[in-house]
Amino acid sequence: MKSGMKVKTIYVCQECGFRSPKWAGKCPECQQWNSFVEEVVAPPMASNSRQAIAPQSASSPMQISKVDVKEKERFITGISELDRILGGGIVAGSVVLVGGEPGIGKSTLLLQMSHNLSLKNGPVLYVCGEESVHQTKMRAQRLGISSDELYIVNETNLSVILEHIRKFLPRVVIMDSIQIVYRPELGSVPGSISQVKECAGQLTYLAKSTGISIFLIGHVTKEGAIAGPRVLEHTVDTVLYFEGARHTSFRLLRAVKNRFGPTNEIGVFEMTSKGLKEVINPSELLLSERPQDSPGSVVVPCLEGSRPLLVEIQALVGSSVFGNPARRTTGLDYNKVSLLLAVLEKRANFKLSNRDVFVNVAGGIKINEPATDLGVIMSAASSYKDAPISKDDVVLGEVGLGGEVRAVSGIRLRIIESQKLGFKRCVLPRSNLKNLDFKGNLQLLGVGHIKEALKVVFG
Ligand code: TYD
Ligand code: MG
Repeated sequence: MKSGMKVKTIYVCQECGFRSPKWAGKCPECQQWNSFVEEVVAPPMASNSRQAIAPQSASSPMQISKVDVKEKERFITGISELDRILGGGIVAGSVVLVGGEPGIGKSTLLLQMSHNLSLKNGPVLYVCGEESVHQTKMRAQRLGISSDELYIVNETNLSVILEHIRKFLPRVVIMDSIQIVYRPELGSVPGSISQVKECAGQLTYLAKSTGISIFLIGHVTKEGAIAGPRVLEHTVDTVLYFEGARHTSFRLLRAVKNRFGPTNEIGVFEMTSKGLKEVINPSELLLSERPQDSPGSVVVPCLEGSRPLLVEIQALVGSSVFGNPARRTTGLDYNKVSLLLAVLEKRANFKLSNRDVFVNVAGGIKINEPATDLGVIMSAASSYKDAPISKDDVVLGEVGLGGEVRAVSGIRLRIIESQKLGFKRCVLPRSNLKNLDFKGNLQLLGVGHIKEALKVVFG
């Protein structure tokens, strides 16, 4: 590229793909409002058109059987929950996106990680664009962090950051956050889709060509006013999302994408005055505040990746003051819960059409798996009847529209975890009992329909 050549931008309609040199509020082609998004046009590589048609490439296709696979070098972060969800440490040259709501603990975790890495693997560069060097130092002091190999810089201009990286050659770089870095050539404001994509693209290229691992922090915003980390999910190798209610100390880190390890793995942390601490037995912590003999509360052994997690589902069924009954859910899918309440009404004759129903997963975590279906039904029934479910019971199973209880995966792990936590009875799909080899104190009660499950639990 000639020096001084300006990057050109155009505007593309997200609805119909219409391209315009100027931004417009309404697309002249499809009449959609506010659909234009800025895009960078790469400058032409060569003026010679023959070269453009037949580019000289360094790559050449080879037989798959001849490809030499070496296990890539990995850096161990020393935070075992993080290492596990990454698939056994950070792969050299990989790009990891860490997303989550502001204030949930992204900077804290990555600063703790940087410290560990700098002690064992050499220089780490922490680019704190959002906070000053002083603020970051104060946070580090609170976390008890001090390492000669950990460098921090407050910078938001991408070219300056790239220069720093080339000069320092750190093993790992943290960008806190990707929404604050920008390329001045692009005209648009930091945090816009084009800036976020372009900067992440440049950093990814750098990571792949040098073997430096890069962590990008991305804020998830409810309003969606600025480009969230979702637009980067396909560019990066690994995507980790932080979950948890900010007012509780419980934090879940979930791998939703991983090119170098398993997906859907979770890491569990607790926010303390000395930063994030790993939680080795999360079920215990999640159930520690469970009320005894309280109607509407039930425990479900869930499976997140390869990890069993016992969660408490709570329901509150009240009489509806207005004609239109309210349905609210926290931590569970709203549509799924509405459907399950309809099944409970139709298949087991619970009159819920004039009742408000609120369903909640305790601890501020999100659960999205079919095994919770029976738990939702049982908790709603328990609140409706004002009859508590025994503290010794766990329930699990997928529920179909006919009220039938269907098998779920990973039954053994769920059962073992329930037994470990002292539960005595497990209500589970009958079809899961086939081929199940389990010898223990936990009593297994197979059911085929929600009516049967109600009978087993409430007598
Ligand atoms: P932070 O890592 O700054 O969140 P993010 O980078 O995701 O925006 O975490 C901020 C919260 O964590 C803040 O409310 C204070 C709390 N916190 C602790 O409770 N203990 C600690 O040791 C630290 C560093 C932060
Ligand atoms: Mg932060």
